Amino acid sequence: MYILYANAELACNIGGSQYHFLNSKMPFLRGISASFIVFLTCVVVHKPGVQAWSMEGHAMTCKIAQDLLEPEAHHAVQMLLPDYVNGDLSVLCVWPDQVRHWYRSCEARKRRGTIWDCHDPKGVKDMCVAGAIRNFTNQLSHYHHGTSDRRYNMTEALLFLAHFMGDIHQPMHVGFTSDGGGNTVELRWFRHQANLHHVWDREIILTAAANYYGKDINLLQQDIQGNFTEGIWSSDLASWRECSHISSCENKYAAESMDTACKWGYKGVESGDALSDDYFNSRLPIVTKRIAQGGVRLAMILNRVFAGDSLEMEETLVAT
Ligand SMILES: *[C@@H]1O[C@H](CO)[C@@H](O)[C@H](O)[C@H]1NC(C)=O
Ligand SMILES: *[C@@H]1O[C@H](CO)[C@@H](O)[C@H](O)[C@H]1NC(C)=O
Ligand SMILES: *[C@@H]1O[C@H](CO)[C@@H](O)[C@H](O)[C@H]1NC(C)=O
Repeated sequence: MYILYANAELACNIGGSQYHFLNSKMPFLRGISASFIVFLTCVVVHKPGVQAWSMEGHAMTCKIAQDLLEPEAHHAVQMLLPDYVNGDLSVLCVWPDQVRHWYRSCEARKRRGTIWDCHDPKGVKDMCVAGAIRNFTNQLSHYHHGTSDRRYNMTEALLFLAHFMGDIHQPMHVGFTSDGGGNTVELRWFRHQANLHHVWDREIILTAAANYYGKDINLLQQDIQGNFTEGIWSSDLASWRECSHISSCENKYAAESMDTACKWGYKGVESGDALSDDYFNSRLPIVTKRIAQGGVRLAMILNRVFAGDSLEMEETLVAT
């Protein structure tokens, strides 16, 4: 739907890593010193198929989250979902991509040590993926105010939040403006044509499903869940969930994505390359980890807003 792009050079200075492939690709950037201002641009992409996480990635994020809901949040989600999905949030996690009338374009800037300030070209605040997450989290925090004075459509707020929490964890969603988050990096994925954005959206997931899970996405999702309940990520779970204010942690998620886009997304890739086993094997663990983190953090936010953490939200809004 809409994409949070980062200026190439600055993106790769986040986390202290510097990859000179950037300079070689974009000579005009060579020599620009790494300033402490990061510019991000969010652009609406109207082309179908250009989105962060494919249907499969979003559905897994939402299923993982839904399985982690505490009774109160579970109940609220059931109340908000339309009957025809039979209580399954994941069915509607791509819905926001189908109603793409939301964002034009936006720009976010970050000064070292301060929070993201994102706004659209007219200066309207919060117009970026992180802003959207804040917005819809805030709307959901009004859930306990009762049906009569609800200013917002809580169902829509839930679906948007669920969707954007997936998006912000897809590293190429926070790729470079100059190449549309990898969309213009045309290459081959094993034998067929693809682009770098799509590799991260979908190809890696589908190749994993085909190679290791008999094409059953549910088995892949269960393997991901197994890895954070008792497997390799179980000791990381607490840190993934850590968030002192539910309205401020999306900046961290965006920064992680940017860092990952540099270190794993773009690294070693040129237009025209043929990506295969090496790229697939080294990136699959990153993709599955981002899906796991997205799901775990979506659950964390929903558990907190529906447990009546709305006070926390409002205090935060006043404070910022
Ligand atoms: C916030 O939510 C409102 C109402 O749902 C919507 O009109 C607006 O575009 C949203 N803004 C952002 C930045 O998501
Ligand atoms: C909320 O939004 C959904 C999806 O757009 C719509 O189907 C539903 O009727 C809306 N609910 C209310 C109370 O307006
Ligand atoms: C889960 O962890 C095992 C290693 O313990 C690894 O081989 C497997 O690929 C992981 N699966 C996913 C989906 O992350």
